[in-house]
Amino acid sequence: MVSIRYLGRKGILTAFLRSISTLPEDQRPAAGKNANILKTKLEKAIAQARSFMAANSMNQNMGIDVTLPGRRRGYGSTHPVTRVLDEICGIFMRLGFDIVEGPEVETDYYNFEALNIPKYHPARDMQDTFYVSDNIVLRTHTSPSQPRTMEKTDPPVRIVSAGKVFRCDSDLTHTPMFHQIEGLMVDENISFGDLKGVLTTFVHQFFDEHTALRFRPSYFPFTEPSAEVDIRCVMCKGTGCRVCSKTGWLEVLGSGMVHPAVFENVGYDTGKYTGFAFGVGIERMAMLKYGIDDIRKYFENDMRFLGQF
Ligand code: FA5
Ligand code: MG
Repeated sequence: MVSIRYLGRKGILTAFLRSISTLPEDQRPAAGKNANILKTKLEKAIAQARSFMAANSMNQNMGIDVTLPGRRRGYGSTHPVTRVLDEICGIFMRLGFDIVEGPEVETDYYNFEALNIPKYHPARDMQDTFYVSDNIVLRTHTSPSQPRTMEKTDPPVRIVSAGKVFRCDSDLTHTPMFHQIEGLMVDENISFGDLKGVLTTFVHQFFDEHTALRFRPSYFPFTEPSAEVDIRCVMCKGTGCRVCSKTGWLEVLGSGMVHPAVFENVGYDTGKYTGFAFGVGIERMAMLKYGIDDIRKYFENDMRFLGQF
């Protein structure tokens, strides 16, 4: 406390006042006078501060006790989805992929038609689409970045594109808004072996090299052949639970060799070039990495959940 430090029995000013008698005689009057002026000023300032504190310590108007210690502000942290997205982009950048961006509000042409999904084709039912108008949709996947990129660049192409996608869908493993990262690699002599190699490397870098994954034959209008990749369910270690619908596996991505019809739509020479593409569900990857059993938790903004990351 200031008053004890300067004016107490062992205070700095008290000690000085006592020492005045040891000064040479001609210096004593001035020293004594100035020290007493200082003492009076200090006492007055301290008294003022004390009465201010007393008046305001429980001031009704302020509603706060200014004598209480301050409250610490919590630090913010990166949302788990953003974190996983950054990490995945990092892995593909190190594998030599460039990053491109595309619009969330997309035309019917890039979301469907350029990808070999004509109007009224039954394949449209695979994705429950939010229509803005007849020809404008909220993109249902990041795949429009494939024709958008190929229209602008000649092979070789090696890109990834990440962002929000939208589907009228909601349960333990589906939300109406979620994130995907799309990948596309086109060149001469690209084979299904390259697809398997890149995706296996990616999964092993993201989790670890012991993570079990399987390529399961599937269907997409814009790839042929097509495969979906499943990862051994971390919740039940593969024995079957409600997260993996008792299968022991959780689907994390779709992939395949780019369909020649897609190349034709962007003017690529189908005799010369081949390529593969894939689309990864980011929330699914994050569920498996952090052992989260309900995808909807990411978007409830519960600080008890988000604060753990
Ligand atoms: C597609 O969206 C294709 N565009 C993927 C693709 C890209 C195939 C390139 C071939 C070539 P699918 O509808 O299966 O495929 O979704 C891909 C991934 O997104 C799924 O494996 C899953 O991890 C995730 N996903 C799909 N729907 C949801 C949803 N409602 N909520 C959260 N994640 C979802
Ligand atoms: Mg799928």
